Amino acid sequence: MSANPLAGSDVLSADQFSPDLCGVVFERARQYREALANEEKLDELHGRVLVNLFYEPSTRTSASFAAAMLRLGGQVFPISEIKSSSVTKGETLADTVRTLDQYADVIVIRNPEVGAAQEAAEAAEHPVINAGDGIGEHPTQALLDLFTIIEERGGPDGLTVTFVGDLKYGRTVHSLAKLLSRYDVTLNYVSPKSLGMPTELKEAVTVGQHETTDLESVLPQTDVLYVTRVQQERFPSKAAYEQAKGNYVVTPESLEPAKDDLVVIHPLPRVDEIDRRVDADPRAAYFREVKNGLYVRMALLALVLDGAG
Ligand code: NCD
Repeated sequence: MSANPLAGSDVLSADQFSPDLCGVVFERARQYREALANEEKLDELHGRVLVNLFYEPSTRTSASFAAAMLRLGGQVFPISEIKSSSVTKGETLADTVRTLDQYADVIVIRNPEVGAAQEAAEAAEHPVINAGDGIGEHPTQALLDLFTIIEERGGPDGLTVTFVGDLKYGRTVHSLAKLLSRYDVTLNYVSPKSLGMPTELKEAVTVGQHETTDLESVLPQTDVLYVTRVQQERFPSKAAYEQAKGNYVVTPESLEPAKDDLVVIHPLPRVDEIDRRVDADPRAAYFREVKNGLYVRMALLALVLDGAG
């Protein structure tokens, strides 16, 4: 194994990340956190260019990749108005990516199709980072979720992590369950029956798993509560969405039976699944999680671009 196993690599799936490799990323993320806290000016990606190729809406993910690149001295150009690009002229994803690959050193892609990031990686010579492929995966979000769990609780080993919400369409859940499956954790899946964890995911996960529709039954034993939004845009109809939403709302009252050192995380955006009054609870870590996303994405960019230029 080279000193930097991610040099020149694509980041497509959580499956790529062993605990050792997560350790490499997180160590670098902590270095950047400290450097930023000390107001150091970092310049190691000077002259490097990132393309943010977003076919789906994004606030956090595109902004945090952009901020990460800029904080390391690199530059960014976004292609997010896909309607005004060649896609509307019938260009294939592969051709769009092959073209942008001529201008950029790294491509961050979000697309509604499962497997789109893989397809992009096959078309590009430079590293491609999956920022969400439909209901497939969102590996960089899972890395920052895991980093947050480690920073908040000292590590995932021995913890019970409860996923609640839309486990069927939630790609962040899919990636994080895969990543956590390499550790000594217990996973609870809480959702309406129609939004349960996909069978292929449950088969891929190798740790203890427990499925229920009843959050109260598992909350007292939970160490990490991973709350997700019902993914409106993935539903076949508005009526189906209306029926599925609003089943689980985390409130100060509902958290009363939970542990004092519970950690509540959420990939955001939130709709109404966490009452805003919960934000003042020290156990609410979702905005700390956003900050962690910056450090983790700085680490990923620095590692994949190391020696790849
Ligand atoms: C998530 C996503 O896009 O999958 N958002 C994010 O990247 N933080 C979760 C979501 O949209 O609900």
